Amino acid sequence: MPNKISKIAVMCSGGDSPGMNAGVRAVVRTAIYHKLEVYGIMRGYSGLIEGDIFPMDSRSVANIIQRGGTILKTARSKEFLTPEGRAKAYEQLKSRGIEGLVILGGDGSFKGAEIFSREFDIACIGLPGTIDKDIAGTDFTIGFDTAVNTAVSAIDKIRDTAESHDRLFIIEVMGRDAGYIALHSGIATGAENILIPEAKTDIEEVVQSLQEKEKRKKMVNMIVVAEGDDFGGALDVEKYILENMPGSEVRVCILGHIQRGGSPTCLDRFIASRMGYHAVECLINGKYNVFVGIKNNEMNYIPLSKAVKYKQHIGSEWLKIGKILST
Ligand code: F6P
Repeated sequence: MPNKISKIAVMCSGGDSPGMNAGVRAVVRTAIYHKLEVYGIMRGYSGLIEGDIFPMDSRSVANIIQRGGTILKTARSKEFLTPEGRAKAYEQLKSRGIEGLVILGGDGSFKGAEIFSREFDIACIGLPGTIDKDIAGTDFTIGFDTAVNTAVSAIDKIRDTAESHDRLFIIEVMGRDAGYIALHSGIATGAENILIPEAKTDIEEVVQSLQEKEKRKKMVNMIVVAEGDDFGGALDVEKYILENMPGSEVRVCILGHIQRGGSPTCLDRFIASRMGYHAVECLINGKYNVFVGIKNNEMNYIPLSKAVKYKQHIGSEWLKIGKILST
């Protein structure tokens, strides 16, 4: 591993998330403050392998803190999964004298960084950028707050029309195999049922609860289902309900990629700025191959090797709270 770092690069990898631009801006400006040379890498590991790398200065990150997406673009690279791909990536960095790499991305991106840092003398720092919030060791991931607020505002709108028509709505939210967006948006919108992969979905019980509500003339119901739920997505839930409660007024809304876009919330800009600053501090202080998290309002540095092994955990009490409050 390098003793002292004078050139670093920053990139985004995997699915984009609102706030990535704020993170890139923080990395670039902190690096410049420390008189480091800083490069941007386009399209994640793919751009790294192809040498799509350019020098950045303070002005190159002006007026981006409020913008969704990422100015560096992002990608999921199959080639980086191969030793040959990683060797090409290393050559691109070595030929430019770049010793440190900051990667904004999710656990898949951290996995790549972890292998890369074991194979080559490049110091890697991860910044948790994912709407899914599925990385253990940090209370926040960049983009989750914006995504969940987008989901909340969409579900509120759906409830308006559901109320007018006395309808049951099944709303599918993103999260891959994690249920955080569903749990938070479901509780915040008073959803009658929240289905997440972290808890076994009892679909019979969902139907029974709808039948019970029908008896007491509670016709408006919102089911928020995580895309990775063990029973299935919104269309599977709809099919089951229609088979078991024929004639029900059911509508499905799959929120999809709108959850990934939009101007980042204050919280996402704030944590991205804080994490981006600390990513560079790590490189300056020789704290290598970690990802930068925030736990109980303190910085938490987790070895990349651990980041890829542990998952966030959702306590069962949360679903109980959702149920009690929405009856
Ligand atoms: O990991 C972020 C995420 O938005 C997941 O919630 C979702 O399952 C996936 O990415 C969608 O990926 P893509 O943009 O490739 O369709």
